[in-house]
Amino acid sequence: MTRIAVLGATGYAGAELVRILSGHPEVELTVLTSRQHAGARFDSVYPSLSGHLDLVCEDYSPDRVSNAADIIFTALPHKIPMEIVPELIRRNKKVIDLSADFRFKEAATYEAFYQPHSAKELLKTAVYGLSELYSKQIQNAKLVGNPGCYPTSVILPLAPLLKKGWIDHQSIVADSKSGVSGAGRSLSLTSHFCEVSESFKAYKVGDHRHNPEMEEVLSIEARKSVNVTFVPHLVPMSRGMLTTIYATPAQNLTLKEIRDFMVSSYANCHFVRICPEDSVPNTLFVRGTNYCDIGFKLDHRRSRLVIISAIDNLVKGAAGQAVQNMNLMLGIDERTGLDTVPFPL
Ligand SMILES: NC(=O)c1ccc[n+]([C@@H]2O[C@H](COP(=O)([O-])OP(=O)(O)OC[C@H]3O[C@@H](n4cnc5c(N)ncnc54)[C@H](OP(=O)(O)O)[C@@H]3O)[C@@H](O)[C@H]2O)c1
Repeated sequence: MTRIAVLGATGYAGAELVRILSGHPEVELTVLTSRQHAGARFDSVYPSLSGHLDLVCEDYSPDRVSNAADIIFTALPHKIPMEIVPELIRRNKKVIDLSADFRFKEAATYEAFYQPHSAKELLKTAVYGLSELYSKQIQNAKLVGNPGCYPTSVILPLAPLLKKGWIDHQSIVADSKSGVSGAGRSLSLTSHFCEVSESFKAYKVGDHRHNPEMEEVLSIEARKSVNVTFVPHLVPMSRGMLTTIYATPAQNLTLKEIRDFMVSSYANCHFVRICPEDSVPNTLFVRGTNYCDIGFKLDHRRSRLVIISAIDNLVKGAAGQAVQNMNLMLGIDERTGLDTVPFPL
């Protein structure tokens, strides 16, 4: 059994990791860290997991984590992982980081949108953990920078089409809506019940930190500089993310050609489902699952391709994709521990 530590286990992404990993047949959870809940049983913090694990939360100690775990998930706010991951890598541990600290190829891009980077040398070897695009590199990685939830929902539908040259790389608008768990569990006025229920709003328009992340990866895939006008929104649901992308086709294409191409592009990718022509994705259909559903509509009169994707921000957008990456690193079926049948409603 591979031994696993989750740092930041009581946050929303960490708790989702604990949920998935506690049911995973090939690994054993050994360490869960939290400052606020150190000394408390994990199932007293999240009673839904009662009967599934009996671990007690601990303060972080590099010695304890290195001795007790082979693979470490860091589900911590950005800036903390770059301070602790170098030591874990030096101790020959494999790390999957859910923050933004190891997602960027260019330190300057990270620094322009976050803060100075104190472990730049690791960016050279870190692998961007979009499982479907980089599975081969992930298999051999020691450090995976797990993608952001918005970038996952934008890159998966666009990467094959940009690579093929089928859409104008300067024409892209991505309009995303996220459930409130995307903001994490810490208290904040913007996520109070009265601020989000009965409310639907855009935020950080053209200024969100996930914008440079999606542009960096899409530019690599397209082999040219891709710009995305990105507008995130907060919707009054706890989990789920729906992204609607508008782009201009670079040539005359039919909806069938686009759909057939996407079906063949993701033919071996269990967690990407291309919707039938007459249906569009819905967050309800992917809730609690690691699926990314993708659908298309072609607006011929206005020469616009409309692409819609749906993920669960906590699963394919965070913990599920991180476990998919762990499976790839372990050389086991990428579906292990993740292939839950979705709720019908
Ligand atoms: N939520 C999502 O949908 C989502 C999606 C993709 C990626 N992510 C990424 O995943 C990471 C965790 O996000 P989250 O939404 O789970 O956040 P969260 O709910 O706020 O959880 C953060 C966790 O980190 C711990 N923590 C906070 N400040 C810390 C510090 N200074 N030192 C050590 N531990 C600290 C917290 O526990 P204690 O305070 O008890 O230590 C908690 O367990 C972030 O980097 C986020 O960007 C989140």
